[in-house]
Amino acid sequence: MKRYGNIIGWGKYVPSRVITNADLEKTLDTSDEWIVTRTGIRERHIADNGENTSQMSIAAATDALEMAGVHPKDLDLIIIATSSPDYLTPPISSQVQHGLGAKNVGAFTLVTGCTGFVYALSTAQQFIASGACKTILVVGAELLSRFIDWKDRETCVLFGDGAGAVVIQATEVPSGVLSFVLGSDGSGGEHLILPAGGSAIPPSHKSLDAGLHSVKMNGREVFKFATRVLGKALLQVIKQAGLDTQDIDLFIPHQANIRIIESAAHFANLPSEKVFVNIHKYGNTSAASIPIALCEAFEEGRAKIGDTLAFVAFGAGLTWAAAIVKITENVKPAPKPPWQNLFTGWLSRDRRVKKEGRPISADEALSEPEVENI
Ligand code: ACO
Repeated sequence: MKRYGNIIGWGKYVPSRVITNADLEKTLDTSDEWIVTRTGIRERHIADNGENTSQMSIAAATDALEMAGVHPKDLDLIIIATSSPDYLTPPISSQVQHGLGAKNVGAFTLVTGCTGFVYALSTAQQFIASGACKTILVVGAELLSRFIDWKDRETCVLFGDGAGAVVIQATEVPSGVLSFVLGSDGSGGEHLILPAGGSAIPPSHKSLDAGLHSVKMNGREVFKFATRVLGKALLQVIKQAGLDTQDIDLFIPHQANIRIIESAAHFANLPSEKVFVNIHKYGNTSAASIPIALCEAFEEGRAKIGDTLAFVAFGAGLTWAAAIVKITENVKPAPKPPWQNLFTGWLSRDRRVKKEGRPISADEALSEPEVENI
């Protein structure tokens, strides 16, 4: 029997500090008009000094686990997609595993730039399909504001910070990642690069003085690449799932530039009402952008249980990734956990049902075990 990884919980975190285009106008030779017309971005959330990527990941993951009704210790695997971890080592995945209290759960970090979440979700699906894992946490998190030059108007206006997470669980009902496309073309790596800090150019006074510790981007080349691959990857992944464009209920693309999103939607013949856009509020949150958008699509009622969603991303590498994802009813809900008091703001089953906007089935109600040994 084929096993699928259904998404049974999702959560997001964005820092509370908002920087608007008007704020940037005060320190940069730029304008709200230029940023909005060229990118679609109006504001972005930027982490405060005390915040870091692992904290944002834990906040988003906690919400996703809470919604899923899964205790961190019951996870089989944690995958964190990020290019802006707290440290080069230890891996952020172990920090998140420890911070969540997911004792001894396997964890790894995946680095493919803005495509990281789709790569991680597709990877998690394979662990489920093989029978190796039952429940996996996937997080996309990014704090790129620490790695950009706030005097470089060509990059700093684009990025924002945040994290998004999903919990996926094995089921025999066709759901989760129905098909995926992963691609990479390293010949374009120089177009989006953080030159120093790795083994090629270790940190030194010279590298600092040369400004090599911030992201350098050839925007035009990245733009051309994105418009070339995004629409094609979308059509390819739809076909691979055995579907047609009209079967897609909502297209949730990586939020990097409104013109790139519109070009991909146009290429695939998707009408604008089927395209989810929140770039105006968050800018480009890289690996976090799709899971944050997924959460918002549900919050706003644009996505609902049973929908077939298309995720498409491009980014550093250069890489691209697309996935068709179906989110079905959680047919075999996790038993009511005895640890629910651990999380403040825990949603009771009734509130979860209300939140998810679906009636509880008799099977679900009857499968609820007695809670013992609290
Ligand atoms: N404010 C005002 N003017 C600006 C700004 C700014 N913030 N930035 C650039 N300009 C100027 C340029 O200097 C240029 O001036 P010039 O004509 O005198 O030389 C002019 O605006 C036009 O520049 P272009 O680069 O042609 O502008 P374009 O329309 O291509 O938009 C942009 C630039 C928004 C960067 C676009 O190329 C883009 O979005 N590229 C993709 C970038 C991207 O998505 N990166 C993330 C990848 S994902 C990841 O892994 C992190």
